[in-house]
Amino acid sequence: MLTTTAELVEDARGRGCGVAAFNVITLEHAEAVAAGAEASGLPAILQISQNAARFHGGPLAIAAAARAVAQASSAALALHLDHVEDVDLLHSATACGVSSVMFDASKLDDEANVAATREASAWAHRHGLWLEAELGEIGGKGGAHTPGVRTDPDQAAAFVAATGVDGLAVAVGSSHAMRARVGRLDLDLIERLRDAVPVPLVLHGSSGIENDHLAEAVARGMVKINIGTLLNLAFTGAVREMLVEDSVVDPRVYLAPARSAMADAVADCQRAIAAPAAS
Ligand code: G3H
Ligand code: ZN
Repeated sequence: MLTTTAELVEDARGRGCGVAAFNVITLEHAEAVAAGAEASGLPAILQISQNAARFHGGPLAIAAAARAVAQASSAALALHLDHVEDVDLLHSATACGVSSVMFDASKLDDEANVAATREASAWAHRHGLWLEAELGEIGGKGGAHTPGVRTDPDQAAAFVAATGVDGLAVAVGSSHAMRARVGRLDLDLIERLRDAVPVPLVLHGSSGIENDHLAEAVARGMVKINIGTLLNLAFTGAVREMLVEDSVVDPRVYLAPARSAMADAVADCQRAIAAPAAS
């Protein structure tokens, strides 16, 4: 069933656990998130990045597919646009039928980030949308900030007050597109950010973090856990295995195991962050 990001994030925060947000590139990604969420009995957010929207020549077709999958599922699923830098794409959010957007002005200097994010946040709220923004560059996507930089709690509190955002992506040691789960997060910083900032915290680049460590990050205050690369590794690994056989022509022969490998990864991550925080 289709629900909203605001509802899932606030519910997770209230219960001291995390909610997973998975990047959707193809229809099979959306179907895998629904299947994984049905298997785990846990909610999830389907998120379409600006890059994925560009890949499809615009956001509408993939958003409509993800929405139809969410509506048909017995799991609670919300739709989100992710890493939106383009204001036209932000403004397409209502036509896409999403309930939230991450507006990413993190490549700008901090003053310009505040100004652009404040405007995006005001627009989103006029249209009933939950808005996430980023402060401090999370590595792996380029940007004006030095890689390895961390989000300062006082600056984060001032940023949220100045922009009115509903969720904040913070730099605490993760990096996008990691193929191995070897990243370590600054757990003390997560706790300081949770205490300083009134809105839920978002972890990007979560594929590079082991499940146990993700659970610790949630216990310290992370709420929305963004996962992309992990699903693509599962997808591509399964496809690669199937394509060893020269006789394979029908895409369903390799897309079915790819989708099922992604569904297993979805349920696994959801379960890891679902337990109420111990501290
Ligand atoms: O916004 C999306 C996430 O940050 C995904 O990052 O592909 O490294 O898991 P990841
Ligand atoms: Zn991200």
